[in-house]
Amino acid sequence: MATTAAPTDFGALQQEIRALAKAKHAVILAHNYERAEIQDVADYVGDSLGLSREAAKTDADVIVFCGVHFMAETAAILSPTKTVLLPDLAAGCSLADTITADQLKAWKAEHPGAVVVSYVNTSAAVKAESDWCCTSGNAIEVINAIPAEKEILFLPDMFLGAHVRRVSGRQNIHVWMGECHVHAGIDPEHINAQRAAHPGAEFLIHPECGCATPAIEAVSAGAISADGVHILSTEGMIQRPAKSDNDTFIIATEVGILHRLRKANPTKTFIPASDHAVCAFMKVTTLAKVKRALETMSHRITVPADVAARAKQALDRMVSVGASKAAAPARDPGE
Ligand code: 13P
Ligand code: SF4
Repeated sequence: MATTAAPTDFGALQQEIRALAKAKHAVILAHNYERAEIQDVADYVGDSLGLSREAAKTDADVIVFCGVHFMAETAAILSPTKTVLLPDLAAGCSLADTITADQLKAWKAEHPGAVVVSYVNTSAAVKAESDWCCTSGNAIEVINAIPAEKEILFLPDMFLGAHVRRVSGRQNIHVWMGECHVHAGIDPEHINAQRAAHPGAEFLIHPECGCATPAIEAVSAGAISADGVHILSTEGMIQRPAKSDNDTFIIATEVGILHRLRKANPTKTFIPASDHAVCAFMKVTTLAKVKRALETMSHRITVPADVAARAKQALDRMVSVGASKAAAPARDPGE
């Protein structure tokens, strides 16, 4: 029977990768922002929290992390006996780069006794200087778990920091002024244009977005209906359409997430708030690099034992807090 070839046929490479993963007892984890063909070859696709939980519980010998460097470091800390591979070492994160361990030490010295909450988008060295880690999926729960009278240093994302301050109502949260260049670039102009073009659509915003604060202010001012606006982690966005009667959604985050949203909800329409919201760090991982990673067992990500031990305490707290938002099996594990 004749079949229509996909514009780019990744099938053969994906089959080779699956065979290699089986032979090497490897699990392939992919973030929601990865290329579509990477998501499709992965065992699990999810947000930072779900992938951390998968990394912590896997019984595979090898974890191929299709995401960015801090995520692979997190997997190495949570699963120290596993071999963790990052297919391309250029997969960094502009947000994680906004604070170093020395800068955090200096900030802590200015606020003795404060509790340090680090977003998971940080280096292992920064996590080692932190009391708690959180992701966008459980940041509020983490803040609520800290006694109300305690001062908090929240880092490094200023928009997520503003969001947790607003939702928790706490005034004693100091926020580091870091930002992700991809999310900060989704500005209110993009949002206003898309909302005007699709007035009935639900509006799903990642809390790292520069537009999250004005959007919520517009809700408070009555300019936008609160019913249609949801501030969610990437996994929260994935789960939202199935719970909603709406059939059109404007998505304010990195565009890689559209693949999974459309795959899971073929009858619904997903519109990117900005077509330009592309994380180049997430896109450096290609199928050819995943195959090479499995063939050569590189690039291995390790964390010095003393740093890992301190960072693990903060990560263990993160993994244990918040409603379960586990990563989704991307394919039948028996395939
Ligand atoms: P989540 O997947 O945890 O929502 O985070 C998004 C992100 O920017 C990861 O780099
Ligand atoms: Fe980092 Fe932003 Fe890319 Fe996420 S989207 S990995 S925060 S640079």
